[in-house]
Amino acid sequence: MKKLNIGIVGLGRLGKEYANNIQYKVPNANLIAACSLNKEEIEFAKNKLELEKTYSDFDQMLTNSKLEAIVIISSTNVHAEQIIKAINKGLHVFCEKPLGVDIKECMMVEKEAKKHSDLIIMIGFVRRYDPSYKHAKKTILENKIGRPFFVRSQTVDKDIWASFQLKFVKTGGGIFHDFNVHDVDLARWFIESEVERVWSQGGAYRFKEFGEVNDADNTFSFCEFKNGSMALIGASRTAPHGHDTFTEIIATEGKLTIGNPPSKNHVQISDKYGVRQECNETFFDRFKNAFLIQIQDFVDLVIRNEQPECNLSNATNATIITTAMTTSFQTKGIVKIKDVT
Ligand SMILES: NC(=O)c1ccc[n+]([C@@H]2O[C@H](COP(=O)([O-])OP(=O)(O)OC[C@H]3O[C@@H](n4cnc5c(N)ncnc54)[C@H](O)[C@@H]3O)[C@@H](O)[C@H]2O)c1
Repeated sequence: MKKLNIGIVGLGRLGKEYANNIQYKVPNANLIAACSLNKEEIEFAKNKLELEKTYSDFDQMLTNSKLEAIVIISSTNVHAEQIIKAINKGLHVFCEKPLGVDIKECMMVEKEAKKHSDLIIMIGFVRRYDPSYKHAKKTILENKIGRPFFVRSQTVDKDIWASFQLKFVKTGGGIFHDFNVHDVDLARWFIESEVERVWSQGGAYRFKEFGEVNDADNTFSFCEFKNGSMALIGASRTAPHGHDTFTEIIATEGKLTIGNPPSKNHVQISDKYGVRQECNETFFDRFKNAFLIQIQDFVDLVIRNEQPECNLSNATNATIITTAMTTSFQTKGIVKIKDVT
């Protein structure tokens, strides 16, 4: 069996999960190198991933001539430059969302990628790989609910992650880029039209520290699409009950609801508190399976030499919209997409 030699950059909260998947669960992949700025993560790579080649410098890792592909799970602010460096070395690339938080950088990646059409470059929008979201898309394509005209989608994290996320704002671009890039991608995928205007509101209602860095802990954004459709997109860092991400698609002849309620499993508990279900704790608990399917798909696409359905232009478009949302939130006005590009 042909096995793809992969190097990973970023072994933080999510990078470790990717590295474990690639090393132990993707049969046609060989994880041969890892890079992180963090000493403990390098130890993790040596001890838990059993890697001989570890690096604290990304450029150094790229000199490893055995590499065929790079998986980028580093901080968002370095995604674009790392993608460009990897493709200029002739390596296939998988990079976690978002492509970037700066539209010019995203466009630069697209420009460089055009010079390397032989390479597979994929940006990870994991919800497209979740079996329930996939089924929803298939249901729409089979015309079972008519034409979608309204998407309500939210990304909601359990409150215990707020202090971690506060550090993340500097590199992750804030709540719209970090959380809502998923919902924006889904809304475009389901509605199949482009966003024309956005209006975002919100605030630091519980954790005032987010307000001090010009960000929020709860937001809502209203998006108008060129074909007249609408999306209402929410984000929250303050849910006491767990990771509560869901999407609802309203169409001319029906409606689809994905992930609501955000139950951990099918068990219902009846006790002195009432009748209830436990909630997923983290995004990874909810999308664990989808993360594995997604990285397996990347490896298979490279081996088959096929481009992904969700291309770089989708990723740039999502960043354009989350940039408009950020501007709208900060200026408290409606923002036209054409004014941020
Ligand atoms: N799809 C999802 O639902 C989802 C969820 C969480 C995170 N993410 C994305 O994954 C990425 C990583 O998130 P995380 O939570 O694991 O972050 P993290 O802060 O826990 O880890 C970041 C990692 O990047 C490495 N890094 C940063 N700059 C580097 C550089 N210049 N060179 C080499 N390594 C560098 C750090 O050493 C660390 O290993 C982010 O872009 C984030 O948006 C996606």
